[in-house]
Amino acid sequence: MQRITMIVAMKQEAAPIIKHLNLSEVKMQDPVLTCQAFQGNYKGLDISLVVNGTDREYNVESVGTQPATITTLEAIRQFTPDLLINAGTCGAFKDKGSAIGDVYMGEKIRYFDRRIPLGEDYFAYGDGSYESALALDYANRLGLKGAVVCTGNSLDMSPTDEAILREEPLVAKEMEAAAIAAVAKMYKTPLLAVKSVTDLVDEECTTAEQFLANLAKASELLQQHVFKLLDVLSSEAKLAC
Ligand code: ADE
Repeated sequence: MQRITMIVAMKQEAAPIIKHLNLSEVKMQDPVLTCQAFQGNYKGLDISLVVNGTDREYNVESVGTQPATITTLEAIRQFTPDLLINAGTCGAFKDKGSAIGDVYMGEKIRYFDRRIPLGEDYFAYGDGSYESALALDYANRLGLKGAVVCTGNSLDMSPTDEAILREEPLVAKEMEAAAIAAVAKMYKTPLLAVKSVTDLVDEECTTAEQFLANLAKASELLQQHVFKLLDVLSSEAKLAC
């Protein structure tokens, strides 16, 4: 795997990776879209990183499944990667053993808030579950725990969301991976999701407060693990030459 594209929702999550890889901004082909791309080389790997960019209407970082879908589609068209990495932050349950700064590899990716009770097929479509044997393999090699990455469009958690999230053993609650996985699957591009915990969803302190307080720390830890992953990918690419 020589060409790797990272999909990162927020610029705050991407900043440590862009800095340490010394990536330079490159133009996205479609100027209508807000996503921004950065490119560089790391140990023989051709790396691109795409963030969703700033929403022009609301002047905030674009997050959630809609920008994730657009960014992934455009990134695949422009960079034709051999592998996609979705690097980002997540919430997790303290009472399932998670702590701030833990980093997980998504062994399964699914929606938790796309509930369509119109029979088995719509129900399964709503869940949108993507399993990854590749992720398990890399998790083992990197010594990372495998978690179920659960995607929805809310930072907070309703009681219904909580009941669904609690069905999974170890949870990384976030807002993009399932949308990215759907596009990756359409284009037959393998995907690894690496998620770093900013907040504990069963803690008294609100998710928003924890998220803002821990975003920089969690993004730094995310960057360290993304680098370890790139090191493994680079040594594999050399072996394949
Ligand atoms: N990203 C970081 N923490 C999150 C949470 N609790 N829910 C959704 N996305 C997140």
